[in-house]
Amino acid sequence: MNEKILVFDTTLRDGEQSPGASMTSSEKLEVARALRRLKVDIIEAGFPIASPDDLAAVQTIAREVGIAKDPGQFIPSICGLARCAQKDIDAAWEGVRDADQPRIHVFLAASPIHMKYKLRMEPEEVLRRTAEMVAYASSKCKNIEFSPEDASRAEPEFLYKMLDIAIQNGATTLNIPDTVGYATPQEYGELIRMIRENTPGIEKCVISTHVHDDLGLAVANTLAGVLNGARQVEVTINGIGERAGNAALEEVVMALQTRQKYFNLTTGIETTHIARVSQMVSNFTGFKIPPNKAIVGGNAFAHESGIHQDGVLKNAMTYEIMKPEDVGVRQSNLVLGKHSGRHALSQRLKDMGYNLSEKDLNTLFARFKELADKKKNITDNDLDALVSSDISQSHAYYQLDGLQVTCGTIGMPTASVRLVCPDGVVRTHACIGTGPIDASYKAIDALVQIPSTLKEFAIHAITEGIDAVGEVSVRVESQVNENDSQIETEKTVLVSGYGADDDILVASVKSYLSALNRLMDATHIFEKKEHHV
Ligand code: KIV
Ligand code: ZN
Repeated sequence: MNEKILVFDTTLRDGEQSPGASMTSSEKLEVARALRRLKVDIIEAGFPIASPDDLAAVQTIAREVGIAKDPGQFIPSICGLARCAQKDIDAAWEGVRDADQPRIHVFLAASPIHMKYKLRMEPEEVLRRTAEMVAYASSKCKNIEFSPEDASRAEPEFLYKMLDIAIQNGATTLNIPDTVGYATPQEYGELIRMIRENTPGIEKCVISTHVHDDLGLAVANTLAGVLNGARQVEVTINGIGERAGNAALEEVVMALQTRQKYFNLTTGIETTHIARVSQMVSNFTGFKIPPNKAIVGGNAFAHESGIHQDGVLKNAMTYEIMKPEDVGVRQSNLVLGKHSGRHALSQRLKDMGYNLSEKDLNTLFARFKELADKKKNITDNDLDALVSSDISQSHAYYQLDGLQVTCGTIGMPTASVRLVCPDGVVRTHACIGTGPIDASYKAIDALVQIPSTLKEFAIHAITEGIDAVGEVSVRVESQVNENDSQIETEKTVLVSGYGADDDILVASVKSYLSALNRLMDATHIFEKKEHHV
């Protein structure tokens, strides 16, 4: 019987920490639901001390995703991150306490360079703080994970002592971060083996990997870790995370599954959900998946050369080491059309794992009918895009109420945009531009009045065919002044936006608006604006 590897997903914490990857609370909740469908064992839902919004998002996930509604339902553990400080641990506990299986993850730097320059603490003081804070966290929650940050650059003897102290004070999982992505697979595997052999009491705990991809070694290091006794892997969807990112969930899981005879290990992941959750995270964060990305890239299962195509047609295993269906690519979807009713749509969404409120279902049904009038077959991918787009537009300060565009070879591209503004008033503005999108965005800028720069614009058709639904992702940047301890500093904030519609101009406008709404959240412009009114 293969031993089980626990999958700890940190897309909503380490992943969301990467610049420009921030998600709204509704998007985080939808990703958490998708992670539950994927059957990850632990969801790190956020860093609750970071802001009241982060705390609220973790609480919502704990209550909506971390509590069993039916007997026998699969429920992941919900985890909140905390530095080794009482206020952090209190916030993390507030975030996760309502979940059926709460976990607190505390961390403290372990390498000489981090202790000296970042913490400005002596090693003895670091050990004392570890003891006090792990004990404090375990007085609240019995499931405690401890991470000695920058472990791969720590002194081994100091590391064993720190881990021993964490175990004595109640840690149940010991996570070994390669925080700066510096280790090679051999070194990281060796580190896990040495920790296993030199830390008293380690057999009572689960050892976990947490590695960054600065040298492109994150997945290799994770696998080296499990070969040396780690039984939990910390990963993110599409490998998003600080700087070059974390180890990609889909790559680690599919390596373990495809090479099961080699690893003799298994995970509980429902791999057929991988492609959908990967697409959802890409839509919400605006981080596009490169075509050559392993497992989830557009070309991961595409065969261009004649020799390969010929081989695959004769026997798929000639050039394919796993089946696209295993990760949810090219699944035969039940197709809906214009004669499908509200019940059929609702049933399909339930089967896909969505649990929409009556109000959201009504809105989606109206959009589905509009789309079905224009497009013959509506697939799961179309439905995923409509739901994601609705989630990205929800709780918006500014909402699209109408768009009219004139463009072509004669005359000047002109757009009239009508928005519902935060004060409830509907306002309209018209602009000309170099093209229809430029004109629409100028009209929105005139109404919203947030100084910002469009950094990226990408358009993509979801399914094949001329009637495909189009999705648009944008990235928008703004400079904001921050007043921290009386010192005024300028900060660059980068946000993404997403919109999908069968009309690509409508999708473009929705995407831009969702980015501006998110910018207002990220920079608290709305509160500032309100004070000025
Ligand atoms: O990379 C890191 O060290 C972390 C810790 C908080 C676990 O993300
Ligand atoms: Zn990390």
